[in-house]
Amino acid sequence: MYKSLRNILQRLENLFNAAFGQALNPWHHLGAITFFLFWVILASGLYLYIFFRTGVAEAYQSVEYITHEQWYAGGVMRSLHRYASDGIVLTMLLHMLRNFLTGRFHSYRWFSWVIGVLLIWLIYACGINGYWLVWDRLAQFIAVASAEWFDWLPLFSQPLARNFLSQGDVSDRFFTLLSFAHITLPLVLLLVMWVHTKRMNHAETNPPRYLAVGVVVTLLILALIKPALSHAHADLALVPGVIRLDWFYLGLYPLIYAWSPGAVWALVAGITLLLLAVPRLFKPHTHKPVAEVHLDNCNGCERCFNDCPYSAIVMKPRNDGRPYALQPVVDPNLCASCGICVGACPSSIPFRHNELVSGIELPHQLLTTLRADTDHALATLHGNARVMVFGCDCAYDVRALQAEGVAAISLPCIGMLPPAFVDYALHDARADGVLIAGCRECDCQYRLGIHWTEQRLARERVPHLRQRVSLQRIEPCWAGRQDGELAGAALATLRARIAQLPQEIPVDEDKH
Ligand code: HEM
Repeated sequence: MYKSLRNILQRLENLFNAAFGQALNPWHHLGAITFFLFWVILASGLYLYIFFRTGVAEAYQSVEYITHEQWYAGGVMRSLHRYASDGIVLTMLLHMLRNFLTGRFHSYRWFSWVIGVLLIWLIYACGINGYWLVWDRLAQFIAVASAEWFDWLPLFSQPLARNFLSQGDVSDRFFTLLSFAHITLPLVLLLVMWVHTKRMNHAETNPPRYLAVGVVVTLLILALIKPALSHAHADLALVPGVIRLDWFYLGLYPLIYAWSPGAVWALVAGITLLLLAVPRLFKPHTHKPVAEVHLDNCNGCERCFNDCPYSAIVMKPRNDGRPYALQPVVDPNLCASCGICVGACPSSIPFRHNELVSGIELPHQLLTTLRADTDHALATLHGNARVMVFGCDCAYDVRALQAEGVAAISLPCIGMLPPAFVDYALHDARADGVLIAGCRECDCQYRLGIHWTEQRLARERVPHLRQRVSLQRIEPCWAGRQDGELAGAALATLRARIAQLPQEIPVDEDKH
């Protein structure tokens, strides 16, 4: 079941890849789009608040004014507010589903997952609260149904439903309270969104510009084609007739009557508990050893601290008597064992003749072993256009590319590859080109591996690829597990290019 769902997701993503390309594939930016929709809701909501009146009699009239008299501004804003609120539910749930199906919810990610569950209910609370403010027949239905739903819990001495027996029971004070909640809840939501991403270094909270523009244009089109409208004014003397439910927020409401309030509480509590238990229920049995610091080879430069995707490294005062101010300390609960810190360490230099130990290492994937494996792989290369491939365990299995003149090694994440290893492979013409492969663009399993690798190879981020290495001899390839064709094409491109280059690798003046 899990695998089938994952395959369906993969196929869907492939379709979007074809339409948008990897970098702009919305599936790769769902968290950021959700964040962006929050800002759209906030901005449109602030505009609506200027004209909204919080009295029980005035609320409906003010919303009608906004919708009809000021359709060109207030009406559009109302629709934007409505559709962005629907959108946030959709993208949030897809974001959750995708994280689940790609296995991104357990171990060091449990915190983001559990806070995410809290976000679901906060978003629902904000949305349902918003519908009350209109005080139309839909709001009336929600008010009465919510009261009956909450009355099932032994919380209140007087049934809440009594407040909605007749029009006179609903006071201006109650309405002011609802409006206050509609400001406070989104602020709490924002705070929790911040907590949700706090453990992630460089969390992507803004989608790429084109996607953001696309989202706004889509919402505007929806707003113009199908403006958000109210039902008739609430009248507690009448039973609301036919109402148009917003299924994104109110899907469970009919169940309060079709089943019973208790059954809906059981459903909601069951879903919540199940979601909270997901990181424990589906936790893998094996636990990879976490990164270890080797102070003898560490000068406290903070690169590992800066590059760690899950903020698992903190810098603390040095305690080994060496003349450096700081030393990295790894939090084993946060470490993803991705090795990105190893790729960042200035001591990860394979050219050293002595034993190769970096300032930070993965115990199960030592750098000295990586160098030995690279040496061994390079020794197998013969013929023309010889390529050394460095790949990633989470992406397309690059070992499938091995052939005459092609050798491959896979790492836990491509971000673990110190750029000096590319230089090492090309040095003395042991290989003619290097293929650097990793997960799909903007979809690195460890979030930042591709990003840092690109920047290191482009000499924009330390540790840089040395100037003497010609970029002509390097080809990046961001290919998911099933992207064999893409990987094959990247390899063919590289081989065709290096076949045109002079056999001897020119050694530029080394500027570093
Ligand atoms: C308001 C709703 C939400 C917003 C705005 C939001 C936003 C984000 C953002 C911006 C990231 C960081 C993406 C990155 O840089 O890699 C993220 C990661 C994450 N989110 Fe959410 N999220 C929301 C709801 C949820 C929910 C409902 C869940 C699951 C129950 C969830 C689970 C996660 C997990 C597990 C990660 C870590 C993914 C990773 O490590 O690759 N989120 N979220």
